[in-house]
Amino acid sequence: MIQIAPSILSADFSKISDAVKIAEESGADLIHVDVMDGHFVPNLTFGPQLVASLRKKTSLPLDVHLMVDNPRSFIPLFAKAGADWISIHVEASVHLHKDITLIKEYDKKAGLALNPATPLPLMNEILEELDFVLLMTVNPGWGGQEFIQSCHSKISQLRSWIREQKLEIPIQIDGGVSLSNMEELIKDGADILVVGSAVFGEKNPREAITKMKKLAEKTGQP
Ligand code: DX5
Ligand code: ZN
Repeated sequence: MIQIAPSILSADFSKISDAVKIAEESGADLIHVDVMDGHFVPNLTFGPQLVASLRKKTSLPLDVHLMVDNPRSFIPLFAKAGADWISIHVEASVHLHKDITLIKEYDKKAGLALNPATPLPLMNEILEELDFVLLMTVNPGWGGQEFIQSCHSKISQLRSWIREQKLEIPIQIDGGVSLSNMEELIKDGADILVVGSAVFGEKNPREAITKMKKLAEKTGQP
């Protein structure tokens, strides 16, 4: 089943819990929470307190995407705040195996994120340990950017690689996803689609999520 993960980065920050409610009522599968530290990416967003508050507002899994330097120091804070899925960037982690293991010690789903220009083989030695892979399809930092077209072949390569190794690791796609490219992404091998501006930038976010869920169900059927 293809999952839709609305990103609250594109929501009105003064009404985040309303955005989460809309997502949940419209059939979203996860809530994607973009954490930015002003170092790894030149923007600042949410801290663990927000995750703790949202934890009380929704039963959907909270998918925390850490776009931060030194992710190791943040993993315990977000895990204790109620994150369910935590992804860290390969470009930001010095001791990757140790950091992925730490996420799992908190009994959370551990994901590894790669920027668009980061080669897939950097995951070679850690792939088996991962609960999911997050492929960035824009340069991280902001919502509303255009999908980088060269990422299509990267998604298919990763899908074949996972299949060849007889692993079952979902691929999450983050950046520039919309109704117009999601069918192609699913055909490339995507399992989880993060969607920010194509949901919360629309006049009717409920309708946007409902349409995406329907299209995902249709396209994702074997
Ligand atoms: C970008 C973030 C994304 C962002 C995607 O750095 O990681 O999760 O919310 O937004 P859209 O869907 O607008 O590209
Ligand atoms: Zn993200």
